[in-house]
Amino acid sequence: MINILLIGSGGREHAFAKAFAQSEHCQQLFIMPGNAGTQAHGINVTIDVNQFDLVGDFCLQNKISLVVVGPEDPLVKGLRDFFMADPKLAGIAFVGPDRAGAQMEGSKDWSKQFMQKYGIPTAAYKTFTQYNLEEGLAYLENHSLPIVLKADGLAAGKGVLICNTVAEAQAELVEMIAAQKFGSASDKVVVEEFLQGIELSVFVLCDGKNYVLLPSAKDYKRIGEGDTGLNTGGMGAISPVPFADEVFMQKVESQIVAKTLLGLQAEHIHYVGFIFVGLMDVNGEPKVIEYNSRMGDPETEVVLPRIQNDMVELMMAAGTGKLNEVNLQIDARTAVTVMLVSKGYPEAFERGKVMSGLDEVAGSTLYHAGTKFSDAGEIVTNGGRVMAITSLGSSIQEALNQSRENAEKIQFENKYYRKDIGFEFL
Ligand code: AMP
Ligand code: GLY
Repeated sequence: MINILLIGSGGREHAFAKAFAQSEHCQQLFIMPGNAGTQAHGINVTIDVNQFDLVGDFCLQNKISLVVVGPEDPLVKGLRDFFMADPKLAGIAFVGPDRAGAQMEGSKDWSKQFMQKYGIPTAAYKTFTQYNLEEGLAYLENHSLPIVLKADGLAAGKGVLICNTVAEAQAELVEMIAAQKFGSASDKVVVEEFLQGIELSVFVLCDGKNYVLLPSAKDYKRIGEGDTGLNTGGMGAISPVPFADEVFMQKVESQIVAKTLLGLQAEHIHYVGFIFVGLMDVNGEPKVIEYNSRMGDPETEVVLPRIQNDMVELMMAAGTGKLNEVNLQIDARTAVTVMLVSKGYPEAFERGKVMSGLDEVAGSTLYHAGTKFSDAGEIVTNGGRVMAITSLGSSIQEALNQSRENAEKIQFENKYYRKDIGFEFL
C-alpha cells in the first residue's frame, strides 16, 4: 500500500484518480490541485505545482512513493529534474520525463531535428528565426500549399497555423517572429509541409529502457459538428481507431515508436513517462505530426478505461524500470467520450453554473474536467471543458448513444456538446 501524488486538474487526471483509487495498492491519493470529481477518490491539495520545493516538502511529509504528472507544463519546467537532484526525493517513483525529454513537446524545432536525425517519418520542414527571417520569406515563395507554421514553444495549443496562400504564410511568419504573436514561443518557427490524411494518436508508456504501447485513440478537436469551427482542447474521443489495424500498428511500432526510443537513448535521455505520438495516416503510412510528453485529454478518458491492468502497478513498473515485467490487458470494446463544454468555449465563456442530474447518469463514467465545489457545496462549472462522459460498447455507435443519453441528463446553463463524435466511422 502506497501514497500517491497525482498532478493536474482535468478530465485526464480524474480518469487517473479513479483508476488509482480502484487499486488495492493505493493507501492515500492526493491530487494537486484536482477538481470536484477527483475529490471523490482522494484529497485535493492546493499547492502551486510550480513551487517545486513545496511539492517536494509535501511528498516527504506525506510519505509519497509515486508521483504521476498529468500536464506538460511542470515537466517542461523541470519538476522531474528537481526531484532527481534531491537525494531525499530521488527515490520516489516519478512518472513524467525530465526537462530534456519534455522538449519533445516543449520545442517543435528540437523534435523535428530529432525525427530527422533518427529517420522517423514526418513532414519536411525548415526552421526560421529573426536572424534568417528574410530567407524564410523567400523559402515560402516556392512552398507547396497549404503551408503549416508552428511556433517552436508551448502556445497553449494555439501555435499551429495552416495557411492557404503564400502571402498569408509570409504575413503570419512576420507576425510570429517579429511581432511575437505567441510571445517568446514563436521566436523560432517551424515551416512544414502539409500532410493530407486522417489523424490519430498512439500512446507509449516508457520506463527509461522498456516501453508498452497503449491503445490508439482519435480526438475531435473542432468545436462544431462535422469537424468545423475553432480548435479546442478536444470535444470527445474514441478508442480504438478503426483503421489502426494490426498492419498499421506494426508500422507505427517499427518505424516510429522503436526508433523514437532508440533516439532518446542515443541522446542520453532517460525517458520515464508517456509519449503521446500525434500521427497522420497518409495512404496507409504513419507520419508523426507532433510528440507530446504526456497523455492526451480527452484521449485518456477513452484509453484508461480500456486498460485492465492495475493502474498503480503499471505506474510503479514505469517509475521503477520494470515495464518488461508487465503484460498489458486491453478491453476489446470500443470507448467513446463526449465532452460537455460551456457555450462560448474555446472563446469567452461563463463559469460558476450550478450542475445537476449527475446522479441520474447510468451506464457511463463521468470524468470531471472543469468543475469545482461552490461555497454552498454545489458542483459548479469551472472551465470551458466541463465534463467527459465515457461509455464502452461493442461499436462506436453503441458507446456514443450511451454517452449522448447521459449527456442529456446532466444540466447546466449554456451546456454544449458535439453529438457526432466518431462520425466518420459510423
Ligand atoms: P499540433 O499542435 O502540432 O498538434 O498541430 C495542431 C493540428 O494542426 C494538428 O492536430 C493537425 O490537425 C494540424 N497539423 C499540424 N501539422 C500538420 C501537418 N504537417 N499537416 C497537416 N496538418 C497538420
Ligand atoms: N487532445 C489533445 C491533447 O491533449 O493535446
